[in-house]
Amino acid sequence: SPSSKVLLHFVNQSGTQMSVTATEGESLLNVVINKNLQIDGFGACEGTLGCSTCHLIFDESVYERLEPAADEEMDMLDLAYGLSKTSRLGCQVIVEPWMNGMTVRVPQGVKDQRATQEAKNEQ
Ligand code: FES
Repeated sequence: SPSSKVLLHFVNQSGTQMSVTATEGESLLNVVINKNLQIDGFGACEGTLGCSTCHLIFDESVYERLEPAADEEMDMLDLAYGLSKTSRLGCQVIVEPWMNGMTVRVPQGVKDQRATQEAKNEQ
């Protein structure tokens, strides 16, 4: 059967909402890239669990339905700026049909974890 189309709403750092039609099975990182959404610095490590810039905040009712995060995601999430109880890394969350109509939010003032570490190394 053809992959389902899923309507998603993203709210960026500036509070601007962007609505897109995603495809079941792609990651939220790929949605942002494929739809060229204006989210500063998003997905710096291209989904290799090395940055946490793909940090997204979910509504609680959505968060509870997501597949559990792997240890590697939890470790990187711990370093995420503006961490919330319903935070996940967008490169690890796969679009499913039940997500139709959900809103995900980018935390204010995302920092690239690698840039922070490079700054530390230079000291
Ligand atoms: Fe870097 Fe998700 S894109 S951890």
